[in-house]
Amino acid sequence: MKIVVAGKGGVGKTTVSGTVARALAQAGHRVLALDADTNPMLGVSLGVGPEQTDLLTAVREGLATGETEHERSTEGFVDRFGTDAPDGIRLVVASRIDQPNPGCTCCGVSAEQLLGELEGTDQIVVGDLEAGIGTVLRLQPGQADVVVVVAQPTAKSLEVARRALEAAPERAPRVIVVANRVRDDEDLATIHAALGENHEYVIVPDEPAIAEADRDGRAAIDVDPDAPGVRALVDLADRLAGIGAPA
Ligand SMILES: Nc1ncnc2c1ncn2[C@@H]1O[C@H](COP(=O)(O)OP(=O)(O)OP(=O)(O)O)[C@@H](O)[C@H]1O
Ligand SMILES: [Mg+2]
Repeated sequence: MKIVVAGKGGVGKTTVSGTVARALAQAGHRVLALDADTNPMLGVSLGVGPEQTDLLTAVREGLATGETEHERSTEGFVDRFGTDAPDGIRLVVASRIDQPNPGCTCCGVSAEQLLGELEGTDQIVVGDLEAGIGTVLRLQPGQADVVVVVAQPTAKSLEVARRALEAAPERAPRVIVVANRVRDDEDLATIHAALGENHEYVIVPDEPAIAEADRDGRAAIDVDPDAPGVRALVDLADRLAGIGAPA
């Protein structure tokens, strides 16, 4: 199964991706986490720590300067450019770099192409996409099974989510909306009014444990797995795991 997480900048894509990936891995699934953001931060939300996350970025920068050799195969890419994250997760950074060597997987291939090439039968791929809806618009059938659209109760994030929800259904069989940082009924009503009530929703409250995790450069699931906001994302992982791709 391949899950991609989309939404406006800053809505919580990386938090959702990292927490869902960890929860899936803790439930016994083999998980490949794909950081497709040009400013890769998924490592931090997975609990790899800021230093190791920076190191992954440095390896990719080595490609541009010629210090690192390019890689053509997808498996080689996951092997050489990835790092191990907690609970047995493999993390790779997949954003395009500026001076691509045409045809190599490590930099000339877009996130959506890579998603298409990654194996999604024996493992669950969780892709943290770049902000906006560019990658969602470029998705071809088979590149993602689930699009998770993250939205906050703010006009701009809801506009991006609305456009993502318009595009996603013809590109992936399942679409889920994460209503993030919902403080009260009014916040939820705002989201429902903008996006409609007929989506599959996951409601995540504004969560101090998530803020604390971010402050400390840790994974929210390590800070407090029972905090309501973290729990909501663990429940999302359980729901996702219910649709196939057994461990
Ligand atoms: N439910 C929540 N409760 C409290 N804080 C949250 C919640 N969700 C996200 N945040 C905070 O919001 C900020 C942005 O979250 P995150 O980095 O996950 O968003 P993003 O969509 O990946 O951003 P970017 O577009 O920059 O990659 C972080 O400081 C994070 O801790
Ligand atoms: Mg992010």
